[in-house]
Order: sequence, then C-alpha cells, then structure tokens
Amino acid sequence: MAPHGEGSEEAMVVQDENRKPISSILIVIAMQTEAMPIVNKFQLKEDLDSVFPKGVPWVRYHGVYKDLHIDLVWPGKDSTLGVDSVGTISASLVTYAAIQALQPDLIINAGTAGSFKVFDLYGVGSRQSFSTPNLLKELNLKAGKLSTGDSLDMSPQEEASIVANDATVKDMEGAAVAYVADLLKVPAIFIKAVTDIVDGEKPTAEEFLQNLAAVTAALDQAVTQVVDFINGKCLSEL
Ligand code: ADE
Repeated sequence: MAPHGEGSEEAMVVQDENRKPISSILIVIAMQTEAMPIVNKFQLKEDLDSVFPKGVPWVRYHGVYKDLHIDLVWPGKDSTLGVDSVGTISASLVTYAAIQALQPDLIINAGTAGSFKVFDLYGVGSRQSFSTPNLLKELNLKAGKLSTGDSLDMSPQEEASIVANDATVKDMEGAAVAYVADLLKVPAIFIKAVTDIVDGEKPTAEEFLQNLAAVTAALDQAVTQVVDFINGKCLSEL
C-alpha cells in the first residue's frame, strides 16, 4: 500500500478535492434566533420531507444561492422543555446526521460566543479548523482559539483550561462540530459573533440576552460575507 502523505494516492485525492469549486455548504447553528436571519437572507426553505430520523426536532433549511447549494441545520427545540437544543450533544448528533445525508463540501458552524477582556491570550488549540488565510485577510476577520463547554457561565475548572489552551472565545457547540467534521473528514470553519465578555463586570446570561439581537445581525452579516467569498472558489483558495 502506498504510504500516506505527500505524493500518495490518498494525498492526491485530497488535493483534487481541494481544487474543485465548492458546490455545497452546510451551516450548523444552535439557536433559532441566530438561524432565522440567515435563513431569510439566503431565502432558504424548510425541508418538509426530512432527511433526519422520524421524531427528532432537528430542522433543515435549504436552497440555492449564487453557485452554492446551502443547507442550514438547527437542532430544534427540546421536545420536553421547549428551549433551543444548545450544547455539544445536539450539535454533534445533528452535524453527524447532516453530513451523512447531505455530503457537504464545507461546514460552517456559525453562532454567538463569549469573549474575554484579556485579548492577548493566544496559542495552541487542540483541534485545527480548516485554514482560510485569504478569507481572513479579505474580510478583515479576527482569528482566535475557541473553547467549547456545555454552559454559558464559566466554572473555575473551565477557566483554567481556557487559560492553559490560550482560547480567546467560548461557545457551546464549536468543538462538537469540529470533532464530527474531523471524524468524517469534512473541512469546517467557525464564525462566532461575541455577545458577552465572560470575565467582564456584567453577569454573563444578562449580557448575552441584552446583546443577542444586535449580535445576531452582525453574525448574519459575517456569514453572508463569508458565503459570498466562498462562492466560485475551491477549498485551496480560502
Ligand atoms: N454563547 C454566547 N456567549 C457564550 C458564553 N459566554 N459561553 C458559551 N457560549 C456562549
């Protein structure tokens, strides 16, 4: 068997894939408030004939925008509590099911996040997202390390881990989407708009709710810019 690595058959297949124009993207979003402006912007339609198992609350919207087929999945409302199914478990399940059903070329996990007053924290994360140097430069976006936990608030243990890994933003889904994308070898990028300063003066939940609507508009704008940039390009050009 040929060795894996540069020059091997496997490496050449990956190179070929990276040089084909991106034709389908999968946007994974945890909250309905975050998802709906993007659904409306791209005029996506809800899938009435679900690709997901019967009975799950997961929702798919889809449509064509420019040269791209866009799927947006949202894990829906918890069937017992009626709240958005935020967090890593729902995110990983819906990402897995969507990749299996839709075979996207690229995943975008979009959502809100908390940030920190101390912005000079930088360093090594545990999982590398797909590298997009041209996109970052062209759209003037900040790159940072994202830490994921199943809570809006930060426990002392989580804080220690965030500091140890030099994370600068904190969300509740990114690592789960990254895990599944890596598992199934689909490139993934992460767009996070900041609603709250985790180590600031205000209680996190209060600040999050106060800023959610305004930040969701910023998120919608960033996702649109990224999708416009992706349109007509191949992965190696991002
Ligand atoms: N999403 C928005 N703010 C967040 C925070 N502080 N922690 C986790 N997820 C968030």
